[in-house]
Amino acid sequence: MKILKTISELRSELNRYNQKNLRIGFVPTMGALHEGHLSLVKQSVSENFVTVVSVFVNPTQFNDKKDLERYPRDLEKDCKLLKPVGCNLVFAPSVDEMYPEPDTRRFDFGELETVMEGAHRPGHFNGVGQIVSKLFDIVQPNRAYFGLKDFQQLAIIRKLVKDYHYPVEIVPCAIVRESDGLAMSSRNMLLTEEHRNAAPFIYHTLNKLQELTINSTTAAKEFIRKQFAENKFLDLEYFEIVDDENLQPVDFIEKNRTYSACIAVFAGKIRLIDNVQLNS
Ligand code: PAJ
Repeated sequence: MKILKTISELRSELNRYNQKNLRIGFVPTMGALHEGHLSLVKQSVSENFVTVVSVFVNPTQFNDKKDLERYPRDLEKDCKLLKPVGCNLVFAPSVDEMYPEPDTRRFDFGELETVMEGAHRPGHFNGVGQIVSKLFDIVQPNRAYFGLKDFQQLAIIRKLVKDYHYPVEIVPCAIVRESDGLAMSSRNMLLTEEHRNAAPFIYHTLNKLQELTINSTTAAKEFIRKQFAENKFLDLEYFEIVDDENLQPVDFIEKNRTYSACIAVFAGKIRLIDNVQLNS
């Protein structure tokens, strides 16, 4: 496994595979890797000749400076996890390498960015668009792997690929959870013990909702609001039921369509997101 810090080093490595027409799988990450990330890497390794993993905490997608400052970073540990699962190339550039000049590009993701993460984290998806488009231009992968944990991000990436005609297949990957149900996240390690113990409540509450078979969103929202009002460690930021196709909030849940119930919660200062499918 090679660790490369510059675009030119990575390009010259990748040229060897391009010339032979060998498939390149790509997993973009911000590091502080866990089993969720590794599941994407394993899938890429099984489906491609070479797997590239990028480890880069992208400043332009953080709308909260404190969140960027405290984001965990440990490249050495990340590499120790990546080697045994078969990753070939780790791309770990500096901020100057990726942004020698400020990126002034503005992406328009239309209605996809008007809700949920887009509404609550202004500029976040523009930053995601900036970094992922740069990485796609540099790596030129055949396939790129993204987790359903970031359900809205996946939709944004699909739109980016469509709008800019990137010749890359986007592969969605299932959410990996801790044994108590908490969706794995790099931010989980920042939780205090109290908040970590409280956090599985998020997934358990979404599970309860799935079992209730409610068909009105207003009733579902009221149910979720009440559950969180009784939990002193967790503060609900938003809960939405959206159509899987266009990510727009719906009023009613129809039987023969699939929806996602998406939630963002503050556990102290740490913001956690999760989602489950309804009607699947
Ligand atoms: P990051 O949060 O590091 O996540 C990298 C990839 O791992 C994303 O596709 C994310 O959805 C996936 N992932 C994270 N936790 C997961 C889990 N528990 N189960 C399955 N997949 C999981 O998402 C980003 O970084 C950035 O926005 C990035 C795309 C790298 C652009 O900077």
